[in-house]
Amino acid sequence: MNRASLEKRPDEVAAMFDDVAPKYDVVNDVLSMGQARRWRRIVVDAVDAVPGERVLDLAAGTGTSSEPYADAGVDVVACDFSLGMLTVGKRRRPDIDFVAGDATDLPFADNSFDAATISFGLRNVAQPKKALEELLRVTRPDGRLVIAEFSQPVAPLWRTVYTEYLMRALPVIARRASSNPDAYVYLAESIRAWPDQDSLAAWIGESGWEDVEYRNLNGGIVAVHRAFKAPAASAGEALRPGQVLLSRRTTAL
Ligand SMILES: C[S@@+](CC[C@H](N)C(=O)[O-])C[C@H]1O[C@@H](n2cnc3c(N)ncnc32)[C@H](O)[C@@H]1O
Repeated sequence: MNRASLEKRPDEVAAMFDDVAPKYDVVNDVLSMGQARRWRRIVVDAVDAVPGERVLDLAAGTGTSSEPYADAGVDVVACDFSLGMLTVGKRRRPDIDFVAGDATDLPFADNSFDAATISFGLRNVAQPKKALEELLRVTRPDGRLVIAEFSQPVAPLWRTVYTEYLMRALPVIARRASSNPDAYVYLAESIRAWPDQDSLAAWIGESGWEDVEYRNLNGGIVAVHRAFKAPAASAGEALRPGQVLLSRRTTAL
C-alpha cells in the first residue's frame, strides 16, 4: 500500500498487517528507536485501569498494547481485524482474550467497557469518526477513552528533521528490517496525511466524547488524547434511586 492507495481499503489494510505480523514488534522497536515502550507506559497510565475493570484495546494487533493491563490483573479484550496479528498475539499470550472485529462495527454490547483505548490504530481505520462513535457506544457512562497516535511535531525545526526521517531514513531502515517494506512507506505517508493534535481533538468531541485533552510526546511525534463519556444522567439514562455514581478519574494526562 502506498500514497496511491491511501484511501485505506479495509481488506488491504488487514492483509498488510497480516503480512508484517511475525516481525511487527521487533520492527517497531527499531523504527521508534526504543521510544515505543515509553509511549505505551504513558498510555497505560492515562487509561488508569484497576483490577476488576474491563478495558477494550482496539486495533490491538499482536496484543503488545494489551499486555500491561493483563499483567496488572485488568480484564482486557484485544480486538483487531487482522487475523495474522491476532494469531501472533494469541500464540504469545494465550491468557488474553483476542477478538476479531472491525473498529467501525464493534462486536460488543453498549456500555460494556469501563475504558477503551486504541494505540497506533485509528490512523489505519478507513472511517475513524465512525470508530470513535463505536468506541463511545461500547464504553459505559463516565468511562474513558485514550488514543495514542502519531501526530505533528510542534517546533518547526523538529518537524523538518522528523519529516526527513519519515520520508528518507525510515523506508531504508524498513527495507532492511521488514519483509514488507511497502508497509512502512505506507506508515510514513499515512502519518503525514493524518490530522494534527487539535483536529483529532475536534473529531473526538464531534463524536460525542467530553473533556477532550491531549499530551504531546517527543515534541509531538506522538500525541495521547484522553476523553470521557458523559455520566449516566446526561448520557440519556435515568438514574435509579440509591445508585452510586462512579467517579471520573482525575489523574494528570
Ligand atoms: C500499528 S498496529 C497497532 C497495534 C497495537 N495497538 C500496538 O500498539 O502495537 C495497527 C492495527 O490496527 C488494526 N486495524 C486497522 N484498521 C482496523 C479496523 N478497521 N478494525 C480493527 N482493527 C484495525 C490493524 O490490523 C493493526 O493490527
